[in-house]
Amino acid sequence: MQHDIRNFSKEKILVSPSLLAADFSSLAAEVRRVEEAGCELLHLDIMDGHFVPNLTMGPALIGALRKHSNLLFDVHFMITDPMRYIEPFVKAGADHITFHIEADGDPVKTIEAIHAAGCTAGITLKPGTPAAALEKVLPLVEMVLVMTVEPGFGGQSFRADQLPKAKEIYEMLRKIGSPALIEADGGVAEATAPGLAEAGVSVLVAGTSVFRHPAGAPAAIAELRKAERFLPGHA
Ligand code: DX5
Ligand code: ZN
Repeated sequence: MQHDIRNFSKEKILVSPSLLAADFSSLAAEVRRVEEAGCELLHLDIMDGHFVPNLTMGPALIGALRKHSNLLFDVHFMITDPMRYIEPFVKAGADHITFHIEADGDPVKTIEAIHAAGCTAGITLKPGTPAAALEKVLPLVEMVLVMTVEPGFGGQSFRADQLPKAKEIYEMLRKIGSPALIEADGGVAEATAPGLAEAGVSVLVAGTSVFRHPAGAPAAIAELRKAERFLPGHA
């Protein structure tokens, strides 16, 4: 692991462009483009065609990109059997792995396995899953990802009905004294970032709004960072 998510401040907006919205015919150049634009993380959506009805990238692709980037590789597992894929993705260069509470297996054991493999661990939940489903695992993770679309595809509309859940998770983490970051994923853009920041979300996954911004990635990232003043910890 070359990066550690625990070193990031919760008082800053961190941008994690989702590679799913990149031009797949020139991925190394696309990663370089967002890295030069100043993002902190790179969001990598791993779908198995079973947990979600789509297929994306495997460990070989992550390994190939690792040689072209110093970004923190923020891996989002949308797979039924996360346990089975921790090791290959860590070997390929993942720095952080988030998996779904709805996936198979004991989530506590999955988190332990991610940590044992040398990565930080994140938990996420679909829009229909309540925050309470995370209670047992919240003290164990370094990041919580709130899905603001149904997982499976990029380019969907932001679900504002997930904001109270983000806020609830923020309060749950505060109560237990957890330093975990909160991330949101799906339809995140200039217009939706302030509400997320207000709810305590400081890590913004953004596919379409960064990779396909007509004014380019630096402008897109600057627009997202404007939400920083809405973060609870912001002076
Ligand atoms: C959806 C993925 C997202 C997706 C976001 O299942 O987890 O990371 O790429 O794409 P946008 O930002 O376009 O909604
Ligand atoms: Zn994602």
